[in-house]
Amino acid sequence: MAVYDRWAEFYDIVHQGLPGEAEFYVGQAVRIGGRTLELGCGTGRIAIPIAMSGGDVTGLDNSGPMLERCRAKLRAVGKTAGALRLVQADMTDFDLGEQFDLIVMPYRTFMHLMTPAAQRRCLETARRHLQRDGVFMLNMWVPKPLQIAAQSGPQGGGLRLAGRYPIPSSADTLVHYCSSTYDEAEQLLIEEHLIHEVDAAGRVRRSVTLPLVRTWVTRREMDNLVRLCGFAVEALFGDFDCRPFGASSTEMLWVLRDGGNLHG
Ligand SMILES: C[S@@+](CC[C@H](N)C(=O)[O-])C[C@H]1O[C@@H](n2cnc3c(N)ncnc32)[C@H](O)[C@@H]1O
Repeated sequence: MAVYDRWAEFYDIVHQGLPGEAEFYVGQAVRIGGRTLELGCGTGRIAIPIAMSGGDVTGLDNSGPMLERCRAKLRAVGKTAGALRLVQADMTDFDLGEQFDLIVMPYRTFMHLMTPAAQRRCLETARRHLQRDGVFMLNMWVPKPLQIAAQSGPQGGGLRLAGRYPIPSSADTLVHYCSSTYDEAEQLLIEEHLIHEVDAAGRVRRSVTLPLVRTWVTRREMDNLVRLCGFAVEALFGDFDCRPFGASSTEMLWVLRDGGNLHG
């Protein structure tokens, strides 16, 4: 079972992405043109708008239920100006037999690659799927040592209300709680999500608990990883408006090219 299988029915209600993120990736796909590959496309939050904007996009994900949601949304959209092809595969081990002008990995998906070996396999596989002059863009959370120290081990873990959302086509409300803690030694962000479906009278109809464990990567660690895997860093932005990465940035947005082609 893939990590996101049980998330699929709640994903679009709870996860609305980062400000400016979808616009950035869709804009890049339109600007660059050609073929785009999205690694970890999920329910198509970004891949579907790319196809609607006329892009030729392949979405890859290892969760069948997430891809099924994506297919249903695509059917609801109807005819798109471009095309979306979906592939169920592991992003650390796939061979699509073609190369792309743009590869994207939005919404901190790289943090799901739990070991350095998996991170390297994913980067190497992505590089093999990149056109000679192609570009690979991905964003991830910036680990903040003070925040991590303050919420590590027993200090973390308090349950907080993360959001309340109307459930589409229903009078019910989805109430989302989350507790998070950090494991500094293992470099893990450990979350437990509690989801209540609440009816109009305030009764809890259903409760679901969804664990989510991710790993974080520091700026220098990522810089080394990508170079080790044959990429050159064209840019590192601190936000989706392409401002330079700096001390106050909360996001790392990496723009990578094939290092051999830049330097060889
Ligand atoms: C944070 S979600 C992002 C989904 C989508 N890109 C978005 O922006 O809404 C991460 C996605 O990556 C997928 N994923 C995680 N690990 C994966 C792996 N090893 N191979 C393929 N997909 C994976 C999950 O199933 C999930 O759909």
